[in-house]
Amino acid sequence: MARYDLILRGGQVVLPWAIEPLDIGVREGRIAALGDLRRAEAEQELDCARLHVLPGLMDAHVHLREPGDPAVETIATGTRAAVLGGLTAVFDMPNTSPAITDSAQLAWKRAHIEGRAWCDMGLYVGATKRNIAELGALEAEPNVCAIKVFAGSSTGDLLVEDDASLEAVMRSGRRRVCYHSEDEYRLQARKGQFRSGQPHRNHMLWRDVECALLGTKRLMALARKTGRPAHILHVSTAEELAYLADYRDICTVEVLLNHLTQTDEAYERLGGYAVMNPPIRDRRHLEAAWEAVRNGTVDVVGSDHAPHSRAAKERPWPETAAGLTGVQTLVPLMLDHVSQGRLSLLRLADLMSAGPARVYGAVNKGRIAMGYDADFTLVDMAASREITEDWIASPCGWTPFAGHRCQGWPVGAIIRGHVVMREGEVLGAPIGRPIAFR
Ligand code: DOR
Ligand code: ZN
Repeated sequence: MARYDLILRGGQVVLPWAIEPLDIGVREGRIAALGDLRRAEAEQELDCARLHVLPGLMDAHVHLREPGDPAVETIATGTRAAVLGGLTAVFDMPNTSPAITDSAQLAWKRAHIEGRAWCDMGLYVGATKRNIAELGALEAEPNVCAIKVFAGSSTGDLLVEDDASLEAVMRSGRRRVCYHSEDEYRLQARKGQFRSGQPHRNHMLWRDVECALLGTKRLMALARKTGRPAHILHVSTAEELAYLADYRDICTVEVLLNHLTQTDEAYERLGGYAVMNPPIRDRRHLEAAWEAVRNGTVDVVGSDHAPHSRAAKERPWPETAAGLTGVQTLVPLMLDHVSQGRLSLLRLADLMSAGPARVYGAVNKGRIAMGYDADFTLVDMAASREITEDWIASPCGWTPFAGHRCQGWPVGAIIRGHVVMREGEVLGAPIGRPIAFR
């Protein structure tokens, strides 16, 4: 009789091509059988009847703040939040304090993951005007998901804003480069013009549509000129989404859960807890983001989990820290969007598993198929639960989605055959590893 380490029995399995009722056999951390395994046995069996088994969902855009302020977030706390929210991997941004911009800091972070991370991790390296000559070597180091360029300033001190430096970054290597795209010159020119009015709403008037569109147009011109593939992070405007449809040869697209879920009414309701870069905008842009999900413009949906202390969020605007927590609430809210008919579970798996794997080149991740890593997110579409702040595992302790009831909830996370979360409990030890990228 065939023996496995783990069998997931009787789930509705979200394959790349269809959802099928299948059993899954896992051996040595890999998918070793897909089909009818009634005659097989295993060390451990999970009853997945009435559940959907998704490929391990990944959040390709998180800021875990380490090194930084452990009272806000750490790799241990942020990855614990990730698995509680049903994720199996996160890609961690480099704008920590200090920022991750050289080989020694990257080595520190890679080693630091061991024994602390609850899920697998990809690591970004930040571009600066001083490390351009090293970027080609840095992107080739193990576990680097991508080089991240802040072409417009945000949290932290990373910034490469001028065309000559951006072109030099693009000529430094060959892998896809990730951009925060807001035109820095327009940001600076408009800063200070919005002192009156509803203070938090001023955030979106300052960092307006033109800031984002101008930044993206400049980056696309340089990407075409140099032939260097680009990934525009958190695309937030209808105008950019329409524009980028003509750049599919060179560009992939991320949209954030926040821009698919929140509109500018949030400024009055949440105050500083609605402030992020690029900003939450009016409904026209939310509708364009959903249209872009439906028509295939969007490759990846992420959270841009960007925790800050309550004190920093409650500072009067414009001193309010920009960024919202989201790593733990991403899957529940996306499942709720599925329940509301805005996308299918197949498309969700494409945006949060296959999409990140394809865009960043993650090895052995992104699909339920023979030989791939045994990473799964188990979801119960019949479960209904409210997001509450006491559930949030990040030390900063808040979410802009408190009170939101979700139809559909993640009830399990399995990473390389290890069951790391089941029914809201984190299990075992932190077995997260750095991911390999091609
Ligand atoms: O709102 C944001 N917060 N946008 C960013 O680009 C950075 C992030 C952070 O690190 O706080
Ligand atoms: Zn970010």
